[in-house]
Amino acid sequence: MKNIDWGKLSFSYTKTDYIAYSTFKDGKWSPAKLIPDADIPVSPYAGAFHYASGCFEGMKAFRGADGKVRLFRPEENAKRMVRSAGYLDLACPSIEQFIDMCVMVVKANAEYIPPFETTASLYLRPLLIGTNPQLGIRSSSESTFMVMASPVGTYSGDKILVPGTAVISRNHDRAAPNGSGSYKVGANYAQSLHPYNLAHKQGYRELLFTDALTHQYIEEFGSSNFFAIKGNTYITPDSKSVLPSITNASLRTLAESLGMKVEMRPIPVTELSEMDEANSCGTAVVITPLSRIDDKVRLEDETPSHIYKFGDECGPKSRALYEKMIGIQKGLIDDPFGWIMFVDC
Ligand SMILES: Cc1ncc(COP(=O)(O)O)c(C=O)c1O
Repeated sequence: MKNIDWGKLSFSYTKTDYIAYSTFKDGKWSPAKLIPDADIPVSPYAGAFHYASGCFEGMKAFRGADGKVRLFRPEENAKRMVRSAGYLDLACPSIEQFIDMCVMVVKANAEYIPPFETTASLYLRPLLIGTNPQLGIRSSSESTFMVMASPVGTYSGDKILVPGTAVISRNHDRAAPNGSGSYKVGANYAQSLHPYNLAHKQGYRELLFTDALTHQYIEEFGSSNFFAIKGNTYITPDSKSVLPSITNASLRTLAESLGMKVEMRPIPVTELSEMDEANSCGTAVVITPLSRIDDKVRLEDETPSHIYKFGDECGPKSRALYEKMIGIQKGLIDDPFGWIMFVDC
């Protein structure tokens, strides 16, 4: 195992040894191979650079209590990439090729999988980009698929479930009502960068987007979904411009297994005053509780028009969900849903 200060890792890039790599040309994929984790030659005319012809995924490999390495629901990521690539009309690896290359990169970088005792994991970043040289605006005819790996910690270093603050955006949109919001395409993230910078400059950890049509309903954060707890009910937005998060889908199943009611429906911002717990959820953030959500007419305003408070500690229902989720991912409890895939490292 590499000599890394695992406790100091945050959610940022650490170089590893290998990337799994395959290209699509003349109607077929090249055999997947391992290349060094280093710069790669790509045409400056590649559609990915100009027309955002690219999509990606995010997943984690965990070292379990028994020393075994686990991937969490990789097939769901593979299926989501097929959907995203379909939206871009980009050639996409099959589900089998996607998973094989994930396994390949985990094995090749096994020394970077953090020890069980830490809160860190090995983050995998499957990336599909249009790479043939082009000038005209059209879908790319050739693509490159890579799976990269990087050990990561949580957003709060080695601490978990540390509540943060969020601000609501009513004048900057992430995704149009009939646009690409439900696909994991790079273009969505470009739209969120500037408003995120505004939010961060004001000291907020998260930016909560509202629906682009009315700005009355909660959508999601720039890189995670939103869910709240009201009494014994898990509530999360139902919107076709929100990314279908694999973590959120898993949490809904876990909530039901804990005897909670689950609602997926439009959530008016004003309903936040009735919520007991509020969180962001996703592969990177797992569950990150929110202590406060500020509502602003304009993100640029200094003073919020309304402040919603949820307490300075993670709520009990969110904590129970977190423990179930991490318990399954790290092999501390049984996996009754068949979510885990073991990698023989
Ligand atoms: C916009 C957005 N929403 C939600 C999520 C959470 O999805 P998942 O739980 O599949 O990681 C992510 C991260 O992938 C994201 O980028």
